[in-house]
Amino acid sequence: MKKTDFLVIGSGLAGLSFALKVADYGKVCIVTKTNLEETNTSYAQGGIAAVTYEKDSYEKHIKDTLIAGDGICDEEVVKMVVSEAPEQIKELLKWGAKFDKKSDGAFDLAKEGGHSEHRILHHKDNTGFEIQRALNEKVKYHKNIEILENHFAIDLITQHHLGSKIKRNNKNIECYGSYILNISNNKIKTVLAKTTLIATGGIGNIYATTTNPIISTGDGIAMVYRAKGLIENMEFVQFHPTSLYNSNERPSFLITEAMRGSGAILKTKKGNVFMKKYDKRGSLAPRDIVARAIDNEMKKLGDSFVYLDARHIDLKELKSHFPNIYKKCMEIGIDIKKEMIPVIPAAHYLCGGIKVDKSAKTSIKYLYAAGETAHTGLHGANRLASNSLIEAIVYADKAVKSALKDFMENDFNTKIPKWNDKSTSNNEEMILITQNFKELQQIMSNYVGIVRSDLRLKRALVRLEIIYKETENLFKKSKIHKRICQLRNAINVSYLIIKMAGMRKESIGLHYTINHKKK
Ligand code: FAD
Ligand code: SIN
Repeated sequence: MKKTDFLVIGSGLAGLSFALKVADYGKVCIVTKTNLEETNTSYAQGGIAAVTYEKDSYEKHIKDTLIAGDGICDEEVVKMVVSEAPEQIKELLKWGAKFDKKSDGAFDLAKEGGHSEHRILHHKDNTGFEIQRALNEKVKYHKNIEILENHFAIDLITQHHLGSKIKRNNKNIECYGSYILNISNNKIKTVLAKTTLIATGGIGNIYATTTNPIISTGDGIAMVYRAKGLIENMEFVQFHPTSLYNSNERPSFLITEAMRGSGAILKTKKGNVFMKKYDKRGSLAPRDIVARAIDNEMKKLGDSFVYLDARHIDLKELKSHFPNIYKKCMEIGIDIKKEMIPVIPAAHYLCGGIKVDKSAKTSIKYLYAAGETAHTGLHGANRLASNSLIEAIVYADKAVKSALKDFMENDFNTKIPKWNDKSTSNNEEMILITQNFKELQQIMSNYVGIVRSDLRLKRALVRLEIIYKETENLFKKSKIHKRICQLRNAINVSYLIIKMAGMRKESIGLHYTINHKKK
């Protein structure tokens, strides 16, 4: 048994920024399922949105966010995040993150779809990597922070583990920490914590094509759901319009929206411009519109990709702002100054997740959530580009303030039993897991993707039920293993997406169904 004041599950921007701030007040244990840097945060390209120059204003950023959210953002939350964003950018700078500047010393701000101003701070085309680098350096050397890499959080510990029956919506559920699997030796630790932060990121890997790294299997959401906490808005899955079409690559390499912000244009395989047919903002329309337009063009023409044409952009700009994209395309034989880039939409971001209030508190006491795993109300039915990194750091800050109050009043509950794995044995047939994972990805991509219908959702649920039952049976018999836990979590979050999508009888934001026209 291990005890800590602050248990942090996840080492992306949400988890590490929280850890750095609470570490001055108590012991912190960060758990991460691979290594510190394998996070969605590290993959973020375009940048981080915040109002930082005089022509821009909070009002404009708020308005853009609300428009993208299609009428169901929580306006109070939008105002709070937008107005607190510049302060959190200062924190990032203080920790050593570097954002590109112009020759006059001002930030070189980029523009992305749905933004009415240039307001994206970026570090070339690898902003997330730069942020992760800066935070890693800080957490590694903090004497109050312990980092457990290759440690997998299996489940949250609540009264359930003391034998109580717990119902969803019960206001008195308490979190005492988590059961954690040490992947290197397959031993399960009971980690008791006065407060726990879930910062486990997204869900992209439940789809066949995704920009997300393999860590994104929705573990945090599934854990909270199993602990009977509240989950919201799961139907709003964002597909990024432009991931590189390079068939066997996983994750799909992203071609940042900032490239369209710099003037790149979408074209069909035959070279026809098509976006203006769908939206007057053309290639820079919000992502849901662009992704649906591409999906429609591909289906109509029977093509497996469309092109992004960046040939007219100045070579110096291509090489200085987009060095990684330039290099990546060159590696697969595409010179983007001379040739167009083949792109397809890919699952990218989950707008819904664990319900949190404005203080980052979940419906379970002593448990907070921040970052992509949380549903704050900022994004509504669709996220404005580059609003997620900023949400992650603002809500981690909210969680800090809550946790610092709560950890003082809370004491360790030491009656917690060890993880019980009696009557289980090692699973000798990994194929049972890998095949079910592939089937799950096919179901989600084909029936619960960019365009949905009542029939597709119904079919998805029937197919999912089979995989669910097989996996639960296997789980009960097997010694705990990361892959079966991930599959189980992926099935849980897929179920929530399908269920919530089925309940929404309208097309709104990212949830587009052919049965219910847009209001
Ligand atoms: P993450 O950074 O994903 O970190 C999750 C952590 O949780 C990881 O450390 C993981 O190992 C850990 N974890 C998960 N499950 C477990 C478990 N069971 N046990 C232990 N550890 C676990 N957003 C922007 O605002 N701007 C951008 O330009 C941008 N570009 C993007 C480009 C790409 C290719 C992608 C994939 C996303 C992009 N996003 C962007 C979205 C943004 O990167 C993410 O939403 C954000 O980084 C999420 O941060 P996080 O801290 O919530 O989670
Ligand atoms: C991108 O760079 O296009 C991704 C930005 C985001 O997901 O916010």
